[in-house]
Amino acid sequence: MKIVKLTMTMLLAVSLIACGDEQKKDENESKVSIGSQTEEREATPENTEESSDDELGLVELSLEGSDQMKFNKNQFKVKAGSEVKLTLTHTGQMSKEAMGHNFVLLNQGVDMMEFGERAAGAANNGYIPEDAGDDIIAHTDMIGGGESASVTFKAPEKGEYDFICSFPGHVALMKGKFIVE
Ligand code: CO
Repeated sequence: MKIVKLTMTMLLAVSLIACGDEQKKDENESKVSIGSQTEEREATPENTEESSDDELGLVELSLEGSDQMKFNKNQFKVKAGSEVKLTLTHTGQMSKEAMGHNFVLLNQGVDMMEFGERAAGAANNGYIPEDAGDDIIAHTDMIGGGESASVTFKAPEKGEYDFICSFPGHVALMKGKFIVE
């Protein structure tokens, strides 16, 4: 029992260190390696997918969109400068025309709702405004039920970014935070 207790205490200590701030980065002894690169969790609205920094370089993130007009995650956390590959899968049955989903990562300062309105007018371009320019950091193609699409990009500088689905009306429900640490 004593050993189990000790292990628990150590785990707690490790968790606390892992949650500590960036200054820990320079102290080799306190560097904690977190087994897998990405972590999948239950499909709840409060889901977060968090990547740890490791030597693999490419951070693979997954996101699902459903016929209920919902993403299965509302937050991602990655390290600044990571190479990110995000794969969006449409787990529903509905067509791209009726229930299309994409992943659009917006730059800071871009208003989600305003962008959504502009995107709604860009049906002929997969609901990506032709003049989006720097407003978009990365986006996938628009997909329908049973399809998936990936996009690879370099994580932008530290900060919080919004991600949305730019299909008309979907930004109201399909949105989340992309946090770069
Ligand atoms: Co959508």
